[in-house]
Amino acid sequence: MAVSSAPGKVYLFGEHAVVYGEPAVPCAIELRARVGVEQRSDAKLRVHAEDLSLDGFTVEYGGTTDERPDVDVSESLVSAAMGYVDGAIEQVRDVTGEHEVGFDVTIESDIPLGAGLGSSAAVVVAAIDAAARELGTTLETDELAERAYRTEHEVQDGQASRADTFCSATGGAVRVEGDDCRSIEAPELPIVVGFDGGAGDTGQLVAGVRNLREEYGFAADTVASIGDVVRRGEQALADGDLEELGRLMDFNHGLLSALGVSSRTLDSMVWAARDADAYGAKLTGAGGGGCVVALDPTDETETALSFTPGCEQAFRAELADEGVTRLE
Ligand code: PMV
Repeated sequence: MAVSSAPGKVYLFGEHAVVYGEPAVPCAIELRARVGVEQRSDAKLRVHAEDLSLDGFTVEYGGTTDERPDVDVSESLVSAAMGYVDGAIEQVRDVTGEHEVGFDVTIESDIPLGAGLGSSAAVVVAAIDAAARELGTTLETDELAERAYRTEHEVQDGQASRADTFCSATGGAVRVEGDDCRSIEAPELPIVVGFDGGAGDTGQLVAGVRNLREEYGFAADTVASIGDVVRRGEQALADGDLEELGRLMDFNHGLLSALGVSSRTLDSMVWAARDADAYGAKLTGAGGGGCVVALDPTDETETALSFTPGCEQAFRAELADEGVTRLE
């Protein structure tokens, strides 16, 4: 049995625009997915997941059981989670050349599904790392990130950037522009997350932005403007200038709203953070529902969010310096 964990992330800047070659700066946070993998004597794949905000479920591929206890999220999210594990195992079969190998996979995750905190990337990174080690192969971080990216790219029908998977594999703050992925220095960041209990459909949201870009030149300009905000944001990060970072996060949120990927609850949480004098706040990830990220060294934003209608959970998130971690 091999067990690996990998962190979730928030986007300080640049989601959606990164799909069109603009830079993005995600930042790993200490919420983790842990994946245990044990080789089977046959070629089946059995997946057991707990704490994926799903009440737990078990699915055996090519086998006799298909048990799904009542779940309180849509079937499509459950199948999406299964698709990621399937894809991750395919990558491991490919990289090790062991095509007939089967596994029992157990997933535990602190990261809500589809909420903009990189749950799928964390599961994919940890699953590939653990399954490869179970077969005696320890992948270099770059190879691991590449294989995880290919998994997301396939499961999301070709609509994925390298940002989530690279950030989860390496940890810390990273900068991603096309296939150029690197770690960057970041000051201590007072990150507060607000979660509305919901989820967005990344594929649909990405497709919505694509349609807008094709239909309206000014939507393409909006995407390019996000790129400009990210470049200024990188400078603010390097200078450790939290006030400027916050202003630019506010600007980034406005541009994402213009692209139609915010929601009433995400906007309410962003405004609650601004009213509480956070340095700045924005949605994180694909949007449509899920999480906002704010910067505030005081308790004000967390408290304000916990009283904001539509916000189910507010918490402070520590930066995760370590990416994939080998537990067993
Ligand atoms: O919501 P998440 O964590 O899946 O992030 C999606 C980020 C996008 O930029 C919208 C898509 C991508 O693959 O980069």
